[in-house]
Formats: sequence, structure tokens, C-alpha cells
Amino acid sequence: MTDTSPSASATPYGTIPPASPLPQRRPVSLPRLQQLRDAGEKITMLTAYDATFAAVADTAGVECLLVGDSLGMVCQGLPSTVGVTLDTMCYHTESVARGLYRVQGTAWLIADLPYGSYAESREQALRSACSLMQAGAHMVKLEGGGWTAPTVRFLVERGVPVCAHLGLTPQTVHALGGYRVQGRTDEDAQTLRRHALELQDAGAAMLVLEMVPAQLASELTQELAHCHTIGIGAGRGTAGQVLVLHDMLGMNLGKMPRFVHNFMPGSGSVLGAMQAYVRAVKDGTFPDDSRHAW
Ligand code: KIV
Repeated sequence: MTDTSPSASATPYGTIPPASPLPQRRPVSLPRLQQLRDAGEKITMLTAYDATFAAVADTAGVECLLVGDSLGMVCQGLPSTVGVTLDTMCYHTESVARGLYRVQGTAWLIADLPYGSYAESREQALRSACSLMQAGAHMVKLEGGGWTAPTVRFLVERGVPVCAHLGLTPQTVHALGGYRVQGRTDEDAQTLRRHALELQDAGAAMLVLEMVPAQLASELTQELAHCHTIGIGAGRGTAGQVLVLHDMLGMNLGKMPRFVHNFMPGSGSVLGAMQAYVRAVKDGTFPDDSRHAW
């Protein structure tokens, strides 16, 4: 049988040096994330699109890596995430998974189901999710509430862990009328709360809350005991935080969103910036609700 462990170095393309041994972190899994949450420790997540940055983020101690469809904007130069295809998501997911494998990484790997890959039917969603799982993802993420709950249940019942995404959902930016804070009115907040509870009930194990008022995100976090809220522009009361990699390295081509913090200055290296991010999320200094929340 072929040895496929990280020490196996002969490939059709040449010899790859064995990965240097790293201090072993326990593999991040859903039970491990629940343990962190129960212990009151914040969960850290960053987006990753390629092997090298994925390996560095894992080394920095980031628990969850998200192959976000934001890659359409930061890697492909598209105007929004709407143009990202399932093939592109699989390509980047495979790259990130290989990067983790090379450093014996332990991060939990989530991949976005892109626009048009899950809305048609639950069967279409399952086919798309299987492609991402076969590319190396441990969990898939999909956007929206209400109509998505039966799809989430269908995937979870078939062994696909799901992360939901509410608030500002970039795939529907045109329907939302722009990148704006969501859930500001009582009615919108009530809808968001109902959707969040339905998604937890359907089995979503994680929920990204993007550009949602801090108070609402914090209340939802209390209400969702089994679904870990991960905030981005949603204040510090969520179970964890996520940022787009390029944003937290200060490499945004457009206007930097207000909720972002550039961790590069003073960190000395990309690894240092990621370690600073992990520290700041864990010790509660990021996000600073007076600057990063609504
Ligand atoms: O695609 C992405 O990067 C995301 C994050 C902003 C949460 O969905």
C-alpha cells in the first residue's frame, strides 16, 4: 500500500521535503469547538484561499479556516461573490487542504457553497456540498434564512456539517441594496432571530453573523446553545470571530470596512499578525465595540 503520510516525499513532480514536526495541537472538531465554547474561550476563524497562507494560519493557532467565496473579490478581482463557481471553490478548497496536510495542520476547514450551487433543490445542495467535502472541507457554509432551513436539515441528516450565514449575506447583495448593516429595525431583528433558531433546529452547528448590531448578535449567542455564532462586524458578544485574511493584513483593494482591524503594523510578519489576531480575539480586545460594532 502507498504511504500517504506527511513523511512520504516521492511525488510524480519531485521530492517534497518532509514537513517539520510541529507541537501537536488537538485536531479541531465539532466536539472540540463545543468544549472551547463551554469553557468560555472564543473561537478564531480566518479566511484562507491557498496552501501557504492556510499553513501559516494553522501554525498561528487559528482554529477554523474558511475558504470563503470572498475569494472572488480578493483573488479573482470580481466585483462581488456572485460570479464564483463551484469548480473555483473546489480548486481553492483542495489547495487549502493540501497546505494543512503539509504542516500536519489541525484546523477545522469550512468551504462556502457559492451562489447558484444550492438554491435550486436540496439534491443540488447535497451534490455541491459533496464536491466541497471531497475537495477536503469538513463543513460547508451557505447563506440565508427561512428557505435554507430544510436544505440544512437535509445536508446534516446526510452527514454534512453545516455553517449558516445571516445578516449581510454577500451573495444577495443586489437584493439587499448594498453592503449594509442588517437587523436594525425591530421587525428585521425578529426575522433574523427566527431564522437563526430555525437553522439551529435544522442542525446548523455554526452561524456566521455579518454586519449585525452587537446587542442582537450577543442575544442570539445566548439563545443558540448548540450553534456557535461567529461574528464579522457583529460586536464582541459572539462565540467567535472571523475576518477576511487580506483585510486583517491591511491589503484591501477598496474601502476597508469599519469593523476590520489591520493586524500587520507592529507584528513583523504574516505569522505574527495572525498570532496577534488570535490573541486579540481570545483576550477580548478584538473587536473593540466602540470602534468595530454598530
Ligand atoms: O466569503 C467569506 O469570506 C465570508 C466571510 C466574510 C464570513 O463569508
